Amino acid sequence: MSGSVRTGSLNTTLINAAGDIAVAAGHDVDALDLGTFHLPLYDGDIEQTHGVPVAATELASRVAQADAVLIASPEYNGGPSGLLKNSIDWATRAEMTVFAGKPIGLLCATPGSKGGMVGIGVMTSIFTHMMLDLHGEPFSLAKAYDALEDGALNATESARLGAWLADVLAPLTTDESDRSDRSGQAE
Ligand SMILES: Cc1cc2nc3c(=O)[nH]c(=O)nc-3n(C[C@H](O)[C@H](O)[C@H](O)COP(=O)(O)O)c2cc1C
Repeated sequence: MSGSVRTGSLNTTLINAAGDIAVAAGHDVDALDLGTFHLPLYDGDIEQTHGVPVAATELASRVAQADAVLIASPEYNGGPSGLLKNSIDWATRAEMTVFAGKPIGLLCATPGSKGGMVGIGVMTSIFTHMMLDLHGEPFSLAKAYDALEDGALNATESARLGAWLADVLAPLTTDESDRSDRSGQAE
């Protein structure tokens, strides 16, 4: 998921590049467009009066079906976007533990030279607070416009992203081989 719905978003470009690499590695990818859920700003009165919105339940269910979650967010004033935080808040109201037990990789692209590390720190703090399985190293893309070629991630950054992604998704591959090892033993 990307925390930006802006046309030409750097973070959406980055998360889509990650998705393409994951698909090429044989994974199925569900690209969540958070803008399409049209969630209201979280308000306990809305929840009390109308219950959790259907869209929040749908978002939670799509996260629940995933074996791993990749999240790219712009850094806005040193934090993740409101859209991302609001979506996470609603998803956890639909299902409190929806992100639990899945490897989670955080990414951030910025036009500036710092690569959103302050915002990533805040996201890390949020996910750590939620006691989630956060991959230790985030993927930060500074000066992101310089890393684009014809609107797509250039070869150097794609290779760096691929290596990072392989690391984030390694537990899934290990689980798979564990399963096939076990099935081999059963035979
Ligand atoms: C309200 C606002 C606050 C921002 N704060 C930061 C910031 O703290 N650090 C930073 O590197 N860029 C900041 N930016 C610039 C964003 O990194 C830039 O707009 C980026 O392209 C947004 O991500 P996107 O391309 O995925 O939409 C800010 C932009 C906005 C609109």
